[in-house]
Amino acid sequence: MKTKVLLAALGACLLAACTTPENEFRVDEALDYCNRQVGRTLDRLHGTDEGIDYTMMPRNILAGESSWNCRKATKDEWCAGFWPGILWYDYEYTGDERIKEEAEKFTASLEFLSKTPAFDHDLGFLVFCSYGNGYRLTQNPAYKQVILDTADTLATLFKPQVGTMLSWPRNVEMFGGHNTIMDNMINLEMLFWAAKNGGNPYLADIAISHADKTMKYHFRPDYTSYHVAVYDTLTGNFIKGVTHQGYTDDSMWARGQAWAIYGYTVVYRETRDCRYLDFVQKVADVYLKKLPEDYVPYWDFDDPAIPDAPRDASAACIVASALLELSTYLPGDKGGKYKEAAVNMLTSLSSDNYRCGGANPAFLLHSTGHWPAKSEIDASIIYADYYYIEALLRLKRLQEGKPVTG
Ligand code: GLY
Repeated sequence: MKTKVLLAALGACLLAACTTPENEFRVDEALDYCNRQVGRTLDRLHGTDEGIDYTMMPRNILAGESSWNCRKATKDEWCAGFWPGILWYDYEYTGDERIKEEAEKFTASLEFLSKTPAFDHDLGFLVFCSYGNGYRLTQNPAYKQVILDTADTLATLFKPQVGTMLSWPRNVEMFGGHNTIMDNMINLEMLFWAAKNGGNPYLADIAISHADKTMKYHFRPDYTSYHVAVYDTLTGNFIKGVTHQGYTDDSMWARGQAWAIYGYTVVYRETRDCRYLDFVQKVADVYLKKLPEDYVPYWDFDDPAIPDAPRDASAACIVASALLELSTYLPGDKGGKYKEAAVNMLTSLSSDNYRCGGANPAFLLHSTGHWPAKSEIDASIIYADYYYIEALLRLKRLQEGKPVTG
């Protein structure tokens, strides 16, 4: 009898030793929550007097409000691909054919982008989150063509004399040169994908050129990033690093750093060049080192109003998703540390402090869109939800021993 009790105690100890934070996090509970909120949003969109308009995409729910503010899917609405992307992720989790139908209908509203001259660099956000996920899950050949055509359009923004894409053609005069913003790193994924899937191999070359030049000039010696790098349009020489959405030119804008962590993780995935793997760890480490206790950053790490400054849950979602991928490229302690940090981020984000719950039909509260413009401060914003559900699906795949990026 004594031996039996001892063996049971030993078994319990071994089980506890094997239980990692990654496995303790109840990912299905969080994904079920997302699915319920998606249902609430769809009910509201269908329930309007005018009926549903598939060209109107949920964008934000401002502090104190309880309904989505929707924006028309136009070439200058950079967030229009996130809601279709969320629907694809929710379909991936639930297998619900009704969600798939909704995903298809919202996605179709972005097809025009594959036939329209580039307005700016956001084409990757717009088309790869929507059509990219749609193609990954359905293999619909029409979707593939939209992505390939849009990648060619995005490539028209690449300026060989500089070596990067011009992110905001409309702002050349305002910044005094060719501007490249850190967010642009996310749009490289569509170029890499197109180069591997029947598009021009040159698309991967320009993605690498963009990543290299950004790595060289877009970061300070401590690996924090500028939001905008300005280059001489003719010579390509670096002129200055400035901000557009951060606190000051020299501050660490949380979402900018998040885009950098995510972007260089993708560039490493696509190239397997260790320079990027080394670099992204430095960019991630400075971010992790400065986080507050609950792993959700203030909107800018250098806002003097901290701890009374607003948070940016969207940055936490982007970084959680990126670190889950990055952890798989770093076996051993470092990978484990990144995975644990990502799970800590998801744990905080999934608590009552950040979940909308019954207050509104988004997933998360407390994101900051554009603080200097006093826009979308402490709000629910659609891209936070997109990267939250993406991170949850990545964690689920890891828990099931599957490749992290699906
Ligand atoms: N791409 C714009 C932003 O991160 O707010």
